Amino acid sequence: MRYGHFDDQRREYVIERPDTPLPWINYLGTEAYFGIVSNTAGGYSFYRDARLRRLTRYRYNNAPFDLGGRYLYVRDDATGDFWSPSWQPVRGSLDDYECRHGLSYTRIASARDGIRAETLYFVPLGETLEVWRVRITNERDAAADLSLFSSVEFCLWDAQDDATNFQRNFSTGEVEVADEVIYHKTEYRERRDHFAYFACSEPLAGFDTQREAFLGPYRGWDRPVTVERGAASRSVAHGWAPIGSHHVRLGLAPGESREVVFVLGYAENPRDEKFDPPGSQTINKRRVRPVIERWLRPETVAAGFAALGEHWDRLLGGLRVTTPDVDTDRMVNVWNAYQCMVTFNLSRSASFFESGIGRGMGFRDSNQDLLGFVHMIPERARERILDIAATQKTTGGAYHQYQPLTKRGNNDIGEGFNDDPLWLVLGVSAYVKETGDETILDEPVPFDNEPGSEAPLYEHLLRSLRYTQHRLGPHGLPLIGRADWNDCLNLNCFSDTPGEPFQTTENVSGGVAESVFIAGQFVLAAKELAAIAELRGLTGEATEFRAAAEKMTGVIVEHGWDGAWFRRAYDFSGNPIGSSTDDEGQIFIEPQGMCVLGGVGLGDGMAVRALRSVEQRLATPHGIVLQQPAYSGYRLELGEISSYPPGYKENAGIFCHTNPWIMIAEAMVGNGERAFDYYRRINPSVREAISEVHRCEPYVYAQMIAGRDAPTHGEAKNSWLTGTAAWNLVAITQWILGLRPELTGLRVDPVLPASWPGFRATRVFRGATYEITVRKPAGTTGRVSYLLVDGERVDGTVVPPAGPGAVVRVEAVVES
Ligand code: GLC
Ligand code: GLC
Repeated sequence: MRYGHFDDQRREYVIERPDTPLPWINYLGTEAYFGIVSNTAGGYSFYRDARLRRLTRYRYNNAPFDLGGRYLYVRDDATGDFWSPSWQPVRGSLDDYECRHGLSYTRIASARDGIRAETLYFVPLGETLEVWRVRITNERDAAADLSLFSSVEFCLWDAQDDATNFQRNFSTGEVEVADEVIYHKTEYRERRDHFAYFACSEPLAGFDTQREAFLGPYRGWDRPVTVERGAASRSVAHGWAPIGSHHVRLGLAPGESREVVFVLGYAENPRDEKFDPPGSQTINKRRVRPVIERWLRPETVAAGFAALGEHWDRLLGGLRVTTPDVDTDRMVNVWNAYQCMVTFNLSRSASFFESGIGRGMGFRDSNQDLLGFVHMIPERARERILDIAATQKTTGGAYHQYQPLTKRGNNDIGEGFNDDPLWLVLGVSAYVKETGDETILDEPVPFDNEPGSEAPLYEHLLRSLRYTQHRLGPHGLPLIGRADWNDCLNLNCFSDTPGEPFQTTENVSGGVAESVFIAGQFVLAAKELAAIAELRGLTGEATEFRAAAEKMTGVIVEHGWDGAWFRRAYDFSGNPIGSSTDDEGQIFIEPQGMCVLGGVGLGDGMAVRALRSVEQRLATPHGIVLQQPAYSGYRLELGEISSYPPGYKENAGIFCHTNPWIMIAEAMVGNGERAFDYYRRINPSVREAISEVHRCEPYVYAQMIAGRDAPTHGEAKNSWLTGTAAWNLVAITQWILGLRPELTGLRVDPVLPASWPGFRATRVFRGATYEITVRKPAGTTGRVSYLLVDGERVDGTVVPPAGPGAVVRVEAVVES
């Protein structure tokens, strides 16, 4: 069952009814001012940091879902009837409704009783504000006297504090209303130099800024007393809960349309110019007033919205494909790329599932996210890499996360995740392959942000590798530390105290648990670094790294192979995990993917054997589960993985992040049919048809889909901010479609499903545009036989870089 449809032409998802299974959200903002917005206008806004600079409130885990938002109320002043054009919060019946989520904007349109309202929400480029442009049309035969009310509930900036520190918060709230603009200025009197404002383009019939005055005692947002009676009370908040609400009266002739613009924004003043007049407590509005005036003008709004569209044209224009599969095309060309950009902007901070007060930027998460956006914004990828690398410790180890505002690492959610450092090698390698920019390797980067400790980035990569090499366990496999990619495999933890955090607790010292996953990742990283060393003329080091990869491969073959698949780990006591010797957790997906990605078992049939085991034991129609059989109960020696009920999250859920590793592995062994089949199983656009089962947005990936052991098999959770986005884009574009940046050029080496006759693509690579056509006899599965580059035959499958501005025609021919 569907709740909407894709409008591919306009790059929008159109939601046709408001009562989606979960709030289906979108993101506003691309630079500094951000917000989440649902299909019923729920959500909130913040400046840079969802926790520390939250503009508006939102209540997670609420009933009904998704309350708190950018709400409007339309009131028919003749009858007193009122409703929300976005359905929530009034939830009155609408004669029609449509929400169009587009690229950094959302448009919600509806009609009731002959009054149509269409609202466009977006954040203009280069501004720290959001625009709500409302168009109200009277489609009746008679004139209509209407009231329009806006509303937002201000957050007192620190979202964590806002939701907990009531002894203080109920007394600190402050606003100003000047020239019909509502200013929220809690704590501006003291150390803050920033405030929020909420303005309207029309003359006001009234306003409110005190929540209780607007809603009325013991009323909710669904039935504000102000709206019910049709008159605002001009309340000025002192303490309690400051809000912003404008009241506008509109008399509309039959057929008449009116546009009303609301602007909600964030502004800062220099410390010594905070007040006007100086010495007073009144906000100095000299800087902000012209901004407000400009954005309340319809021409500015129209131009700002057009510029946003051009921005997305530029970002998405560098990689476009036309394949026989519409679900592939729309994900690659629009939604998957868009999700990668949103994930770049927000890391794991703010979604319907991430409260915005939790996590900073993950070291491993950020390095992997990079894989999905480096081709769209290489300069930002460069900056991100240098930021991440600057948090690396001198040991080569990593803080597990860092805060975007300070860019410093911290151990708040644990340390010693031994896979972390290796992701830096993989991230940098992807950057250099995409851009050809080797200068980044010489860039001086400090350790632990310590001035004076700078060393070339290349040295950081070397230390990443050494970090693993110096931390090997009894079998010669890398020590796992707190955990590896799987945060929940806590083999050195042994927690039996409720609520104790699995990632920071270590009740037994001297942990020697080992990870086959990190071993595979090491092989991959060592080979990548060898290629980079070679590029720099360091052949000695290159040879050394290759030998190290070779050696680790030997260890995996000896101690990491279970007979029909790769083992997952060895626990504290030296027992294998992910082995047929156990009755649960016999086979895990991660090492099957990562070992093959590292090239382990490609020559001797182990890779193919392992992938067959994945197909037989882990694959379901909804995707590939993380392990089988699920752990039926808590196991002290395994930690968090066994804390989840079977089928959820790391305990045998379909952890979508890992599925592309298998797609890539299948492509590497030449099995395009199966690689693409797996790709489609979790492709959100394919799953649109079963939205009542999947329940999350059909236009973006979710972190998890419930596995076969769960009663809700097929139900997705944790959409939007997940490493799944980057890896799926890599799997489909670089391995299945085979358009793969390499150090020496752009490889064109697709591994396609048999039925495809080929595909076309435009790929911008190092400034040149490649117009690529792949031709293959349908019904065959062969690999590229030869390339024609501008008509000239080229051996192999690598197209050399053509230089900025060039347009190159590439034909890849597969002979049957
Ligand atoms: C979450 C974390 C990621 C981890 C994964 C598996 O997605 O952000 O770092 O690898 O869970 O546990
Ligand atoms: C929980 C989640 C995991 C996440 C971790 C860190 O363990 O299951 O997916 O990576 O928390 O926040």
